[in-house]
Amino acid sequence: MESRRSVVVFDFGGQYAHLIARRVRELNFYSVLAPYSVSLEEFLRLNPVAVIFSGGPSSIYVENSPKPEIEVFNYIIRSRIPLLGICYGHQLIASLLGGRVSRKEKAEYGLSVLRVLRNDPLFSGTPETQVVWMSHRDAVDWLPEEFVTLASTEYSEVAAFRHRSLPIYGVQFHPEVRHTEYGRAILENFLKRVAGLEPNWFVEDVAAEVISRLKKELRGKALTAVSGGVDSLTAAVMVQRAVGSDNIYVIHVNTGLLREGESERTLEVLRKMGFKNVFYVDASGLFLDRLRGVTDPEEKRRVVAKTFADVFAEKALELNREVGGFRYLVQGTIYPDRVESGATGKATAKIKSHHNVVMEAIPGLEIVEPLAEFYKDEVRRIARSLGLPEEVITQHPFPGPGLAVRIVGEVTEEKLRILRKATVIVEEEFRKAGLYEKVWQAFPVLLSVKTVGVKGDERSYEYALALRVVESEDAMTASFAKLPWDFLERLAERLVNEVEGVNRVLYDVTHKPPATIEFE
Ligand code: XMP
Repeated sequence: MESRRSVVVFDFGGQYAHLIARRVRELNFYSVLAPYSVSLEEFLRLNPVAVIFSGGPSSIYVENSPKPEIEVFNYIIRSRIPLLGICYGHQLIASLLGGRVSRKEKAEYGLSVLRVLRNDPLFSGTPETQVVWMSHRDAVDWLPEEFVTLASTEYSEVAAFRHRSLPIYGVQFHPEVRHTEYGRAILENFLKRVAGLEPNWFVEDVAAEVISRLKKELRGKALTAVSGGVDSLTAAVMVQRAVGSDNIYVIHVNTGLLREGESERTLEVLRKMGFKNVFYVDASGLFLDRLRGVTDPEEKRRVVAKTFADVFAEKALELNREVGGFRYLVQGTIYPDRVESGATGKATAKIKSHHNVVMEAIPGLEIVEPLAEFYKDEVRRIARSLGLPEEVITQHPFPGPGLAVRIVGEVTEEKLRILRKATVIVEEEFRKAGLYEKVWQAFPVLLSVKTVGVKGDERSYEYALALRVVESEDAMTASFAKLPWDFLERLAERLVNEVEGVNRVLYDVTHKPPATIEFE
């Protein structure tokens, strides 16, 4: 099958490469990420109709700085494939085509005012001065004859350039970042006006194509584990549409580390979506047993993953004995899980450890990944088109190891009770205030410290809760949400009044990096 015409984003190791690809898709053009060192053969296989060079942390003048294969670069230029360089990509193009890049005295980081100097399709429909987001210390000093400068900022004379006769462009700023006022328009101009592309990526249609392809390809029974999150549910529904409800077997494991009512809700959703073969395994006791005395975060994650694998494999084996005929294992992997971030991206899926265990137990199983092409926001759109409940679609991400990574230190039944109750209150207040969908994640974390307080006339000695609320695009970076004080006050009041065992609430004011979103 010929691959879809794609906008190929070369990943030079910037944290923004995925973001660029997502933005292109939001504009309804198909995009894929390629490692910067992609071979010509691989590159051509992607059916490229435009190329974007991403940013990256390196400096082009240092030895071994990342550069595309020379034959790939020459091919792009010779075949007049429209090319846009962003940040490092901008400097790279300038340098490869004879310009000069050097390190500046002063870095330009954050918002800058861009002055557009010329009329050009790239800036069509955008004002002469506009705010852009910059993050660089190196800059293009001068360009060869055949290039023109399109825009400048106070610190970057060459903040945007183009080739006089070829479709080659560079921008020093980041159009993919929301802080760049007209970033979306600039990317759209590049795709539509410079590259002359027609939108070809409508996620609901593509999901329908995936389902009909699976319908043709899959012969036999499929097995899957559903956590309650949008990815695993959507993947299960897509395969259900392809093989029919009789041929998909769904296992839901209650780890005891889920939120209040989460298992019940998941089973209810499965029933509503017409699944017939649903198997519930309550393993909460086993998880708790195995987590006893475990305090190291990595160890905790290993114990949860291993226990999950054991429980899932045991149930799968039992079903295989009773029913038999399983051919496929459905995995809800999404595109960013497949293409590793950074310049070494390999397009091979990682098989989750619990799936590996099942594959060993039932030989001959094949992994099916209906969501492998999609980003999270696209999965949500697909879920909506398949009729999954809005509550599932809009819910915040919830980590695989569940509440275990939101309890600092040892996990006990008592701590789980406290955290479950606190989580209900936090989610309720966020929804009530209309803030739930405005933030990326909002959850309480149970610290392992007890502190002194007074409740009524009595001195108390109880746990402290931390509130973690972040805004983010993709969880790679995040900033803490600057919430109104009165909202935080109300929330803290409810938490100390209603959750037995808690007498203090702290608000986490660290960004990621340096802190992670979860505490463990
Ligand atoms: P961190 O804590 O690394 O989290 O900043 C980034 C995002 O990933 C989620 N997360 C996980 N999701 N299994 C998951 O499916 C996990 O083990 C896991 N750990 C963290 C986290 O909630 C955040 O959205």
